[in-house]
Amino acid sequence: LVDGPLKGRRILVTSGPTHEPIDPVRYIANRSSGAQGSAIARALTALGAEVVFVTGPAEAPLPEGAEVHRIETAEQMLAACRAALPVDAAICAAAVADWRVASASDSKIKKDKGGLPKLEFTENPDILAALSQPGPDRPLLVVGFAAETDAVERNAIAKRQRKGCDWIVANDVSPRTGIMGGTENEVILITETGAEPWPRLGKTEVARRLAARLAAHLESEQGA
Ligand code: C5P
Repeated sequence: LVDGPLKGRRILVTSGPTHEPIDPVRYIANRSSGAQGSAIARALTALGAEVVFVTGPAEAPLPEGAEVHRIETAEQMLAACRAALPVDAAICAAAVADWRVASASDSKIKKDKGGLPKLEFTENPDILAALSQPGPDRPLLVVGFAAETDAVERNAIAKRQRKGCDWIVANDVSPRTGIMGGTENEVILITETGAEPWPRLGKTEVARRLAARLAAHLESEQGA
């Protein structure tokens, strides 16, 4: 671990998509490269934090120096996050599937059984909301992401309230922005005091700024 303003801090980062099985060979997933999550983990490590990185099956290279836990489903992600507690801060950058198939088949669903399969869904746990719940294990700072395609700021402010988290990093993921799967990001940071638009930056630079903000916040909490 390197020396830096986050030395002695344990920080949880969720990243990547989740895969929700339909049967042993098929799954439902989300479009997420894991690039922003990996970049955040690296930026936190560079400032001295001990990072617990809980990731779904992502394309992005894993962050060096972090304690990596690989999971597939949302339920597994929640269990891995709970097992990582207590932490000083949690950043939920994962694109968690909102639903899973209610009863995934143990054997491959056959095409020739006649008719189309009917999938029934059930809701997945909301990891960000779970980590934000008040309680002895609640991190000092919980940060969520909001990928929106319209009314980005308004929706993100509402999401912050709904989830009970402290900050939301909101971004516009409309296809025209090229953000999803791209190397750049243009975000609005929503905190308790309002909305702060950041310029379009590389995902690495967004991660660095977020890590620096988080370090400053934890320092001020300690002083408070
Ligand atoms: O509700 P929505 O998916 O737009 O919220 C996005 C934020 O919530 C992200 O920070 C994401 O990591 C988190 N999330 C979660 N568990 C879910 C759904 C979203 O942690 N089941």
